[in-house]
Amino acid sequence: MTTTTATLVTEIRAAIAAAPDAFAAMHAAVGLLKERLPHYTWAGIYLLEGDTLVLGPYVGKPSPHTRIPLGQGICGAAATEKATIIVDDVNADPRYLACSIETKSEIVVPIIYFTGDGEQVLGEIDIDSDQPAAFGPADQALLEHVASALAVRLKQA
Ligand code: SME
Repeated sequence: MTTTTATLVTEIRAAIAAAPDAFAAMHAAVGLLKERLPHYTWAGIYLLEGDTLVLGPYVGKPSPHTRIPLGQGICGAAATEKATIIVDDVNADPRYLACSIETKSEIVVPIIYFTGDGEQVLGEIDIDSDQPAAFGPADQALLEHVASALAVRLKQA
């Protein structure tokens, strides 16, 4: 991680720990991400309820996709594969569910809780950018650290 990324992770971890409840923790995390990183146009969290991803806290324009079945979208793919997905050009990806016509690229990072028995997907962090190919390894590292902090916080709720 770069120094900037590490500083932001520390700041977001502190905000998650200080938040009064899980919803506030998620809201603080996406708020700081969007505020600090100009290429983050929309930042939100989906929570897995059964086989459906349900939109939780977000910053940016309202999304038409408030409920996404696991079999649909880049969001559904990331939760099913339990792996981060980066899409440089959303319009070239047949899985893409359009949120805004300005969106050009996207990163989706699963929020995974590691138990003694395996991995449990609790939800995911979804970031859209109006810039093409906006996301790279630094974003992935940052967001996977934030997802890991959120996984622990969500289990405490
Ligand atoms: N683009 C996502 C849908 C969510 S909106 O970006 C907020 C997808 O393809 O799953």
